[in-house]
Amino acid sequence: MSETATNVQKKTLPDAQTVLSVRHWTDTLFSFRCSRPQSLRFRSGEFVMLGLLDERGKPLLRAYSIASPNWDDELEFYSIKVPDGPLTSRLQHIQPGDEIILRPKPVGTLVHDALLPGKRLWFLSTGTGIAPFASLVRDPETYEKYEQVILMHTCRTRAELDYGRELVEGLREDPLIGEMVEGKLHYYPTTTREASERMGRVTDNLTSGKVFADLGLEGPMDPARDRAMVCGSLAFNLDVKAILEGWGLREGANSDPAEYVVEKAFVGEGI
Ligand code: FAD
Ligand code: A2P
Repeated sequence: MSETATNVQKKTLPDAQTVLSVRHWTDTLFSFRCSRPQSLRFRSGEFVMLGLLDERGKPLLRAYSIASPNWDDELEFYSIKVPDGPLTSRLQHIQPGDEIILRPKPVGTLVHDALLPGKRLWFLSTGTGIAPFASLVRDPETYEKYEQVILMHTCRTRAELDYGRELVEGLREDPLIGEMVEGKLHYYPTTTREASERMGRVTDNLTSGKVFADLGLEGPMDPARDRAMVCGSLAFNLDVKAILEGWGLREGANSDPAEYVVEKAFVGEGI
């Protein structure tokens, strides 16, 4: 494409943002950073619509949790690669300098505003469901509001945990947040289909009491003390909801804050 044609395309691409870096974590997972629209204000934990132009020049957009915190000058996203997925079969090939479309209209329920004040905040996730929590664990407000913050993330294999692990390790050295995190953030990564230091589903580790025992935290959850945010597949979300409700936590929303909130990490086949 000639430079002139590139310029023309740049001008006509609606809500264009520039890809700044891309990192591939596994055959099925990658993350990328892009420029942040000047008009975009968001609460850590929210999602936006982003994508590319399709073959006919129409925007092909999907929901994506913003993985970076709201103070960051750039935006970060953590993405699946669905081999025949309309968007991610192409999005996985983006390179620094490429443009993506990003609608600057953030929404979502995984936000502090949707929870009543509490002492402990649980982030419960599987797979790319860690993305909104990658934002929230980097937000000082999280540590100002809670005495203890627990990030549970479960994947099938160890390599699928790498994005989250590296992020949490980096937090401890972060000049803005390092001191706030110290002694407050408990990271509990587990695998289910490959041996690792810690194993088992989030649901099983909650109901058996294992996570509380391993972290030296009083269990089970108590609506007077605990708050939770949940993000995974529909099946995961439903199973976790049942556990939380069994412990007396009620689902909250932006308009009606309560003890826990849920969001789907993706919409599955036929749902
Ligand atoms: P699609 O046609 O959208 O999906 C094809 C199939 O792939 C789906 O039916 C499902 O079975 C599977 N699938 C899609 N996304 C995932 C996923 N993330 N994990 C496991 N299986 C999946 N995706 C991200 O990768 N990162 C995010 O931060 C993210 N945030 C989201 C937030 C919300 C509120 C919702 C509703 C979805 C989110 N998604 C996220 C999913 C995303 O919108 C797309 O589905 C995904 O990018 C794949 O797009 P596609 O067009 O390639 O395939
Ligand atoms: P498992 O390996 O025991 O199925 P998936 O890739 O299928 O979305 O799963 C991602 C992770 O979430 C896997 O570790 C999987 O465990 C776990 N998981 C899937 N469904 C549930 C559920 N309903 N409750 C708890 N964990 C789940």
